[in-house]
Amino acid sequence: MADSLEGLKRTHHCCQLRDTDINKQVVLMGWVQHRRDHGGVVFIDLRDKEGITQIVFNPENSKAIHKRAQEIRNEYVIGVKGKVIARPDDMLNPNMETGAIEVLIDELNIFSRATTPAFQIEDRVEASESIRLQYRYLDLRRPQLKNNILARHKATMAIRNYLDNNGFVDIETPFLTKSTPEGARDYLVPSRVNPGNFYALPQSPQLFKQLLMIAGFDRYYQIVKCFRDEDLRADRQPEFTQIDMEISFINEQEIMEIAEGMIVAIFKKVLDLDLVTPFPQITYDEAMSKFGLDRPDLRFGLELCEVSDIVKDAGFKVFANVVKNGGLVKAINAKGCSSFTRKQIDELTDFAAVYKAKGLAWIKIKENEWQSPIAKFFTSKEKDALRVRLDLEPGDIVFFVADQPKITNEALGQLRNELARRLGMISDDNYEFTWVTHFPLLDYDETEKRYQALHHPFTAPFEEDIEKLSSDPLAVKSRAYDLVLNGIEIGGGSIRIHSTELQRKVLNCLGIDETEANEKFGFLLNALSSGAPPHGGIAFGLDRLMMLLCREDSIRNVIAFPKTQKATCPLTEAPSRPSMEQLQELSIRISKIEE
Ligand code: AMO
Ligand code: AMP
Repeated sequence: MADSLEGLKRTHHCCQLRDTDINKQVVLMGWVQHRRDHGGVVFIDLRDKEGITQIVFNPENSKAIHKRAQEIRNEYVIGVKGKVIARPDDMLNPNMETGAIEVLIDELNIFSRATTPAFQIEDRVEASESIRLQYRYLDLRRPQLKNNILARHKATMAIRNYLDNNGFVDIETPFLTKSTPEGARDYLVPSRVNPGNFYALPQSPQLFKQLLMIAGFDRYYQIVKCFRDEDLRADRQPEFTQIDMEISFINEQEIMEIAEGMIVAIFKKVLDLDLVTPFPQITYDEAMSKFGLDRPDLRFGLELCEVSDIVKDAGFKVFANVVKNGGLVKAINAKGCSSFTRKQIDELTDFAAVYKAKGLAWIKIKENEWQSPIAKFFTSKEKDALRVRLDLEPGDIVFFVADQPKITNEALGQLRNELARRLGMISDDNYEFTWVTHFPLLDYDETEKRYQALHHPFTAPFEEDIEKLSSDPLAVKSRAYDLVLNGIEIGGGSIRIHSTELQRKVLNCLGIDETEANEKFGFLLNALSSGAPPHGGIAFGLDRLMMLLCREDSIRNVIAFPKTQKATCPLTEAPSRPSMEQLQELSIRISKIEE
């Protein structure tokens, strides 16, 4: 029989008692972290959300209770009454907040017994992620994960306070809705009452927040779940949380200031860190040119350098041909790394190949020669030009990628990050923010043979570029901006289109004709023609932000109940097969299931 809570009231949490509390009668409740039997005396570390207190069962104090204490095992849930006493000098623990005291117990209540946990409730104990996710309630008892979740709460409180103080209104938007194109696949939900019809779960509240501006709410925010069926990575979940906001009568500069204020408030509250604003800004073109990626990690140098003009006539045909065909040859000088072994170079070549680089040419700069399979192809004039452009000195190794611009930039940009990781150039304590601005409005999808919105189709182009929508669509720049922290995109937004005519024009550029536009976005187009204020906004990935604040490598470690890389939940075993009755009710037949 389990003991009852009746008549027992907790007086303190498990991280509260200090030497100033000595002689007080207290009641503590929590989980048994650890039990030790020391020459007849039983010591238990009692744990709750706040921390740990040592409690003592001494047979000289009460034989019966001491005997019962021997039944206790790890993770039992107990409530105890006793007196706070000073620890003997040799048992003081300065590493523990409650390390000066212990509680001598004279009443023990066992509320519930526990089976042996699947893993120890301690940070340093390794358990596979699938086991941790299956027993997430145990995993969440571990200090690291628990602290991440508590930090997340602090962050959301800071966000709500900041936005409330700045006139933002928290408004909920529907989950059962129509497709909101953010570039991923939709999660669909069948409608029972409308057989054959499906809702789409929102990829973001984008269209609703614009409608709220048209409705006149002026400043909206929401901490909201978004759903995207896309390939998962360490910083992507199928359902994730956005800090979503939208503001009327505003330009990009003002939105950035408001967003920076919010980020400052979060870092102050969670890490007690004072960030310096304004954050730097870099254009998309400059980011691509120097870093190869639109989310540059500014914690280290290793900038990319284009050398197409120098190598365009070189004897190394790979380079010359790439330049002839409109490609790019770029290089990174890894200073002082000419001691890289063949094996290390091969590993880096394999790494670049993941990003579709067809090779990774390299040159080791030695005192009197260039060591490289390709050095022989360059004239001394070309070598001199490379030396100056890349600041080549003895001891350096320089890596080259030659390909179409997309591949060259992506492969070398990723290689830059990988080199910095391998060379220990990255410090976790360093937070380097940058805004990326002036993105292209459109991107050309080679497989689908059509233009795509780089941000989303509701992003405004710069006024002066509008005429290029028909003549040179890829040259049109958008009023979009991303906030990047340590090489990770933590937020993105834009000034929106607020005229029906321009919105139709942009949709048209995306290959959406008038009929399709009316069918998919008719409600937006109607709303835009009913008095729409100029407006813009931004959304931050709360999970990504918390991952960085908590110095975690995966967003799964800052989400209470995350999904695996395969979008499953080992705890509840979702997704699962519906019953035949459910499917019939929904007028759905499953045609093929691959086991
Ligand atoms: P965007 O698509 O850039 O913009 O999303 C905003 C931010 O959300 C985070 N994010 C994700 N986090 C975890 N898992 C995912 N699958 C995932 N996808 C995105 C990123 C990203 O910066 N409606 C626009 C915002 C706007 O224009 O106001 C939008 O959703 O940190
Ligand atoms: P190969 O002539 O194929 O033996 O290549 C000579 C060197 O150039 C090797 O180190 C290759 O990795 C490298 N290489 C080949 N193609 C490319 C490319 N497109 N970009 C960069 N390096 C390349």
